[in-house]
Amino acid sequence: MITFDPLQPVPKPTSETTETVQEIADFFDKHGDTWRLAYNNEIEHWNQYFPLRRREAWALTQIRDEPKETAVDLGCGTGHALIKMRQLGFQQLMGVDISSEMLSAAASLMEENQLQDVQLVNADVQNIALLADDSVDVCTALGVIEYLDEDGPLLAEIERILKPGGVAIIQTRNYPCLFVRTRKLGRRLLSRRETKIAHREHSPGNFKAAARRHGLRVERQRFIHYYALFPLTIVAPLRRLLQPLDHWLSKQCERAGALGVSRFFASMHVLKLRKPV
Ligand SMILES: C[S@@+](CC[C@H](N)C(=O)[O-])C[C@H]1O[C@@H](n2cnc3c(N)ncnc32)[C@H](O)[C@@H]1O
Repeated sequence: MITFDPLQPVPKPTSETTETVQEIADFFDKHGDTWRLAYNNEIEHWNQYFPLRRREAWALTQIRDEPKETAVDLGCGTGHALIKMRQLGFQQLMGVDISSEMLSAAASLMEENQLQDVQLVNADVQNIALLADDSVDVCTALGVIEYLDEDGPLLAEIERILKPGGVAIIQTRNYPCLFVRTRKLGRRLLSRRETKIAHREHSPGNFKAAARRHGLRVERQRFIHYYALFPLTIVAPLRRLLQPLDHWLSKQCERAGALGVSRFFASMHVLKLRKPV
């Protein structure tokens, strides 16, 4: 790996950056601080960030028994997962992100935690040229693929950089989630703006097929963040009122695992993929 000093100013994306990627970088440049605070419960309505921590926790349980030489967090944001990875024992760590503000927040967090050896790289996850083929034991991509125009380039890049036998954890937004579908339909009917930034949602079956087409074996899956009280919670005041119960039920549903209907209530789908030896 190339050594990168996390405390140096990170370069701006190159001219090859597509319009979508630049738009995403600009969006996340405005959110570095909020994102950092979200993991510390320091912001108002921190509960809305509860799913982020759930997905990260599951990802970490899936990689804890893997070889610990090298790990890369793709779309690392403020670098929260990198700290946990070091606690798990990963030796060489790299975070890749397109937003320089997210990376600056990540660099501060690394400094606070005396992890200045963690490399932070400003690059498009669809083209991580500085990582050699077959060089990484583990890579994670949580909450990132939804912002890309298509899945192929990231999946191909993950397959390229993983060592044979290496593991990738990728999280997508779960298209069949009834809560999300209903809310989006409601917004469309009321001509409300969809979200702050465009993103995609994935059907679990299609995404698993795409991963297999790119040479990655599907080893495990987990649905995360259930809207267990849907349709009650579609009404915003009721949702806020019932949030503690909803979150508690969500955890129980996650543990119970992939019952046939679970895909219709969970907002996130996480896959553990392995590059065959
Ligand atoms: C929703 S945040 C998730 C951050 C972190 N993975 C987490 O779970 O907290 C998405 C991150 O992906 C980054 N990102 C989006 N598209 C990217 C791309 N094409 N290349 C690199 N990073 C990207 C954003 O800048 C942002 O920091």
